[in-house]
Amino acid sequence: MSDDNGNGSDPGLLRVFVTGSCEGLPEIVDALRIHGGIELVGLSEDVAEAAAALTGGHLDAVIHATRGSEFPQDAYSAIREYTRAPVILLCSGECSGILSEALDAEVADVIPLPQLTENIVFAIRKACQADKRAGSTSGHVGRVVTVFSPKGGIGKTCVSSNLAASLAKYHKERTLLLDLDLQFGDAAIMMGIEPDKTIYDLVVAPGELDSEKLAGYTTAHPCGLDVLPAPIRPEDAELVTEGKLARLLEVARSSYDMIIVDTSPFFHGPMLATLDRTDILLLLCGLDIPTIKNVRLGLQTLELLSYPQERIRVILNRANTNVGLKRSEVEDTLRTKVHYELPSDRAVPMAVNRGKPVALAEPGADFSKAVKHLADMIAGSRPAAGKAGKAGKKQPRQSIVSRLRS
Ligand SMILES: Nc1ncnc2c1ncn2[C@@H]1O[C@H](COP(=O)(O)OP(=O)(O)OP(=O)(O)O)[C@@H](O)[C@H]1O
Ligand SMILES: [Mg+2]
Repeated sequence: MSDDNGNGSDPGLLRVFVTGSCEGLPEIVDALRIHGGIELVGLSEDVAEAAAALTGGHLDAVIHATRGSEFPQDAYSAIREYTRAPVILLCSGECSGILSEALDAEVADVIPLPQLTENIVFAIRKACQADKRAGSTSGHVGRVVTVFSPKGGIGKTCVSSNLAASLAKYHKERTLLLDLDLQFGDAAIMMGIEPDKTIYDLVVAPGELDSEKLAGYTTAHPCGLDVLPAPIRPEDAELVTEGKLARLLEVARSSYDMIIVDTSPFFHGPMLATLDRTDILLLLCGLDIPTIKNVRLGLQTLELLSYPQERIRVILNRANTNVGLKRSEVEDTLRTKVHYELPSDRAVPMAVNRGKPVALAEPGADFSKAVKHLADMIAGSRPAAGKAGKAGKKQPRQSIVSRLRS
């Protein structure tokens, strides 16, 4: 059973999702549905079935119902894979035996049933307030910058790796380069590193993902950048699911100032989950008709997905190449302005072949200077502290993934 209505909500209401089952739960669900302070976003007896509805950082709390006398470890771990929202356990049986495990697992509250609805609503409110307080004291919100183009070979990996290296080296930003070209990613090669572990190892590792665990799977580059490479084998890509990625980005935002995401030229599930959490989308275009056609299609797709236009920056790579097309013609065809140009530079392929990002190997090269300027603009456009709010708590907006499904 899954009942999801993730769109258009009153921001004053507490958004709650219900998982599990126990005696008395249907009555509580009915009462919460009509309660003035709660928005019941959905319910699903099976946690795994609710993966898409639980991810996205839009929930204020999760209620999990259990009838057993043992702590529901599997269900709780599964919920934690998808969301950091506080979890309140409702138990229909004898629950004194699960209290100490619940405390260790940082469950927000354990409530035996039967119970007055108002007591349950009070527990939800208390849990949300405590969560907000914890969020405002830790309060760190990194920014996700995704480098995308619907055309292969356009320069996504060159731009993302050099941008990430510039932010780490020249701005001293805590930066993660995340390779989401899951089948054929080459960010590690461009950075000249030989990683022991990849995103695949991270997503298949048991246990809950947190900052400490993430740190154990990244590879440090001498410029100060951390890299989380793509899986080594293409067939491992499918294990990097939307849910895993959503959680990964949530944790990365609390550990890093900047998360630069390299991508493949496709709108696959993990890419859509990433778009949902992207603060700036660098959309790469080139000076050739097939690329311009695909970028235009890409822009139309983003519009269909209601992706916020103000987050998109169109970047014209190799903009100084003389191939009979001008920037103004590209802008006319795309029906949007080109925000930034990067020059074609022989230093780029030479640095690629040496396994060194050109921005570090040759800081005086034209491409390096342009990327550094792009990094200056991105670092300079950081919202004032507190403006962004808590990681993952964006304005309630139906996620791109659920929009595609509906
Ligand atoms: N501004 C530039 N000047 C010169 N060469 C460039 C420039 N940008 C990219 N290149 C070259 O183009 C090639 C492709 O770049 P890159 O691998 O970054 O593209 P990509 O979009 O990531 O490709 P894929 O879709 O296959 O992942 C690289 O060998 C790189 O050296
Ligand atoms: Mg690439």
